[in-house]
Amino acid sequence: MHIVPERPGDFAAIENLMDVSFGAGRAAKTVYKLRDGVPHDMALSFVALEEGAAESEMRGSIRYWPILIGAARTPAILLGPLAVDPAHKGRGFGKALMRHSLAHAKAQGHKIVVLVGDPEYYNPFGFTREQALALALPGPVEERRFLALALEPGALDGVSGMIQLALPPRRSVRRSAA
Ligand SMILES: CC(C)(COP(=O)(O)OP(=O)(O)OC[C@H]1O[C@@H](n2cnc3c(N)ncnc32)[C@H](O)[C@@H]1OP(=O)(O)O)[C@@H](O)C(=O)NCCC(=O)NCCS
Repeated sequence: MHIVPERPGDFAAIENLMDVSFGAGRAAKTVYKLRDGVPHDMALSFVALEEGAAESEMRGSIRYWPILIGAARTPAILLGPLAVDPAHKGRGFGKALMRHSLAHAKAQGHKIVVLVGDPEYYNPFGFTREQALALALPGPVEERRFLALALEPGALDGVSGMIQLALPPRRSVRRSAA
């Protein structure tokens, strides 16, 4: 299998995979409030392709969004969605996408990762409920599924509060003096 950066041509296939995996109503979930109007981080978005398969035969996708935590606006990243083609589950694509993207996140200097997902799947990568106890999300989630990971020891020490949308800086509008 190959893990490669998400390409513009993957967009439609990823949307379709997300609809199949999470249902068309997925945008109503709390985590989508943190994605609204914010582009995902292309430097951390990857697709899994299978050796020998046509390029269009993508097996899985992972994306991350930039977020800010608390009044201090500590930068962090929100992991997900992660999804693997239902016909190819259990073949290691999910774990490969996780390992690859987390290694890149660390190498790029990210220090805190947050997600909402099954702890049984994410615990082996170091995500725990305990690390997210001082954090809050702007809407309801099943508490046991709200997890965090410090990519650097101590990165979550003293970090607390509501997770917010990391809006890109507004383009400054230059008005010519008429
Ligand atoms: C969760 C998902 C990404 C896993 O991808 P995958 O390629 O099938 O998983 P892998 O082959 O890398 O890993 C398989 C292992 O994960 C376990 N696993 C898969 N989904 C799991 C889940 N939701 N909870 C706990 N364990 C899970 C399998 O039992 C298997 O365990 P084993 O290695 O001990 O046999 C994929 O099943 C998927 O797309 N699910 C629907 C969308 C989703 O739930 N996304 C994640 C949000 S929690």
